[in-house]
Amino acid sequence: MVGMLCMVVLSLSFGNWSSRRISEYGRTYVVRPKGRHQATIVWLHGLGENGSSWSQLLEGLPLPNIKWICPTAPTRPVTAFGGFTCTAWFDVGELSADGPDDIEGLDTTAAHVANLLSTEPANIKLGVGGFSIGAATAVYSATCFAAGRYNNGNTYPINLSAVVGLSTWLPCSRNLKNKIQGSQESTRRAASFPLLLSHGKGDDVVLYKHGHKSAEILSSTGFRNLSFRTYNGLGHYTVPEEMEDVCRWLTAKLGLDRSRS
Ligand SMILES: *[C@@H]1O[C@H](CO)[C@@H](O)[C@H](O)[C@H]1NC(C)=O
Ligand SMILES: *[C@@H]1O[C@H](CO)[C@@H](O)[C@H](O)[C@H]1NC(C)=O
Ligand SMILES: *[C@@H]1O[C@H](CO)[C@@H](O)[C@H](O)[C@H]1NC(C)=O
Repeated sequence: MVGMLCMVVLSLSFGNWSSRRISEYGRTYVVRPKGRHQATIVWLHGLGENGSSWSQLLEGLPLPNIKWICPTAPTRPVTAFGGFTCTAWFDVGELSADGPDDIEGLDTTAAHVANLLSTEPANIKLGVGGFSIGAATAVYSATCFAAGRYNNGNTYPINLSAVVGLSTWLPCSRNLKNKIQGSQESTRRAASFPLLLSHGKGDDVVLYKHGHKSAEILSSTGFRNLSFRTYNGLGHYTVPEEMEDVCRWLTAKLGLDRSRS
């Protein structure tokens, strides 16, 4: 099932995450659009998964105008698992907006994602989506796009048109308000940016209350084009009903041709 936590493998790498250098990404899977290419979305898998886990699911969606790029995260020690290693987009101690943030890891992956999108043709709309820790990276990318820069100060290089985050939380929430509200341009970008967060009420990995709180922080920061969808009885995985809502939302927000299927 897509969305399960990784199998843990014993690692000898303990210690401070900022001292680690991890840059080996795994294989990238691309799903070509079946119809007219209108948008490209990088989709980021959950902890311990790989790009193929999601590319098969995405390929089956009734979204013929989207090209999906599904990279695979580096394998690294994850603090939340006591240093055990698995594929992870950044190191994470707590799967919530309250924990400390691996800012270097987030900036590195957000830049990798922007780089994957930077070679798309100019008339193609660009988006980022994902599940769990992948979705956290997607939401982080939305905040970098709105702010115009990464946390490390470098310019965010592409124009994003939409971000989707399933079963996730908002990283780097503490200084977000200052970053966004410090400039009129950022405030304007945040206010209109299409952002979809969706979360199962029965999620016992990234608790529902953390998803809810993340949505509240984004909303109070000025992300007014935010939809927060919740699903009764849904745990830390996805179901067809949720993906159908994602399809409808993407079709509307990206202005895609309506599919006949
Ligand atoms: C990717 O994940 C799937 C399970 O989702 C697994 O069956 C497959 O072996 C993995 N592929 C690689 C290259 O690790
Ligand atoms: C992003 O959009 C703005 C405003 O529409 C435009 O001026 C800028 O050149 C675009 N940047 C890129 C990298 O496409
Ligand atoms: C939300 O995003 C869509 C798609 O870009 C746009 O048409 C709409 O005007 C936005 N809504 C707000 C309130 O900015």
